[in-house]
Amino acid sequence: MGRLLFIRSIEGRVLAGITMFVGMMILVGWVAINEEARMQAFVRQHTGRAIERGAELYASLCSECHGEEGYGSKDRAPGLNNPHLFGYDPVGAQTAAITNANRALVRLNKDIETLLTELTNAQNPPTDERQNAILAEIDDLEAQLEEQHALIDQAVAERETKLKSLSAAVKRGLYPLWDTIEDIPSTAENEVETFFFINGTRLTQVGWAGDLQGYVVTTLIHGRPGSANVWLSSEGMAPWSQLAGAQLRQDQIEDLAAYVLNWDKGNAWTDDDLIAVQQFGKPLADGSLPREPGPPPAGDNVNAILTFWAENEIVGSEATGGVLYSEDFGCTDCHGKGSAPDTVGTFERALNERLALPQFAGYTVEQYLVESITRPGDFIVDGFSSGLMPANFGTRMTHQQLADIVAYLMTQ
Ligand code: HEC
Ligand code: HEC
Repeated sequence: MGRLLFIRSIEGRVLAGITMFVGMMILVGWVAINEEARMQAFVRQHTGRAIERGAELYASLCSECHGEEGYGSKDRAPGLNNPHLFGYDPVGAQTAAITNANRALVRLNKDIETLLTELTNAQNPPTDERQNAILAEIDDLEAQLEEQHALIDQAVAERETKLKSLSAAVKRGLYPLWDTIEDIPSTAENEVETFFFINGTRLTQVGWAGDLQGYVVTTLIHGRPGSANVWLSSEGMAPWSQLAGAQLRQDQIEDLAAYVLNWDKGNAWTDDDLIAVQQFGKPLADGSLPREPGPPPAGDNVNAILTFWAENEIVGSEATGGVLYSEDFGCTDCHGKGSAPDTVGTFERALNERLALPQFAGYTVEQYLVESITRPGDFIVDGFSSGLMPANFGTRMTHQQLADIVAYLMTQ
């Protein structure tokens, strides 16, 4: 009896062991298989929360001007839940067709001109046979010209029909300044094409080269200086970021941007969505186009700077460095005037004298120069006063500028 129990319990333990082992393998496999899915779910949740937080901020801070559903309000603020802002151009296909046909016209006309020159060449007249061939070719090219003209007429007519069906949106500013363009005589067709090319989407209209996310974030940070002059019944778009002395933190700005971008319908925008917009954007006031933030300053962490250069393949330009050294950053106000070590001989001194000092064991000349420029207080050259060389160059220079100056000093 006891023996049986013992065996049973051994069997049981083995079984339990096997079960556990198999279970663990399944678990490990499941985790591996689902890692990707879990990451995606996590990202979705994370974005979802950002959008929710953004929605709350939007309701309390933005909806009074941009409208609860983001359709904008008349003469007050442009719609943000707006196909035009997201890059939907309702007559884009027609504009592209006309542009292509115009290019073909230019090419065909040039070919015809070349053939005519050959045909009428008095010094070297073509044979009768060649003359006939040329005339036949010209006939063919002229037929092609006709085809392209027909394509243009068709696209222009289509565009007109489309614009009529969108007249509600056009009245609310979908194509600002279109009224003034319509008066242009038909000889100025190119201007009409240029107009539609430039005003096809909101981002081309304002000349923003980056993406929409950057456009929204930058607008929120800096606002639109001078926009109150363009939007007479509104205070205009103010800056919102703490960076510009206003109330919102960067994470709140990002949440708001996530909420606005959440309106994107991608390829599914329709003309009805355009008609739902109550007010479209206007041409920007002079100088109010937001800019992408500039590159970050180099800082004063020598190792981080050198690593950044290596990772981003930043290489200094000796020539630019020379200009930055003597003009932009005024290094020559002191260097070369007696109150600071001479510029000439910098490299030799660094290599033979400074690197021979115990505290610079293992340094390269480049490393020494970066440190001297960004942290001048760390080491004072014998015979010169401390605290004289400005300590803030690291925050005033970009990585590229610092690298340029170092490249210049390496030649001195
Ligand atoms: C007092 C009214 C007002 C408030 C409040 C306001 N805006 Fe604006 N906003 C404007 C105006 C006016 C413009 C157009 C500026 C221009 O034409 O340069 C604008 C432009 C924008 C644009 C650029 C749209 C485009 O087509 O160029 C974005 C994005 C934007 N606002 C987001 C927001 C967000 C998000 C909030 C809330 C934090 C907000 N705005 C609050 C009035 C306002
Ligand atoms: C206001 C005067 C002043 C200006 C402006 C100034 N420096 Fe200096 N610099 C000094 C002095 C003084 C020293 C020596 C004392 C020390 O080591 O801090 C020095 C030291 C250096 C050294 C170390 C030289 C050596 O022989 O070891 C380098 C490199 C250097 N400066 C680069 C620059 C660069 C690059 C600029 C401009 C971006 C600049 N300095 C601007 C005063 C100045």
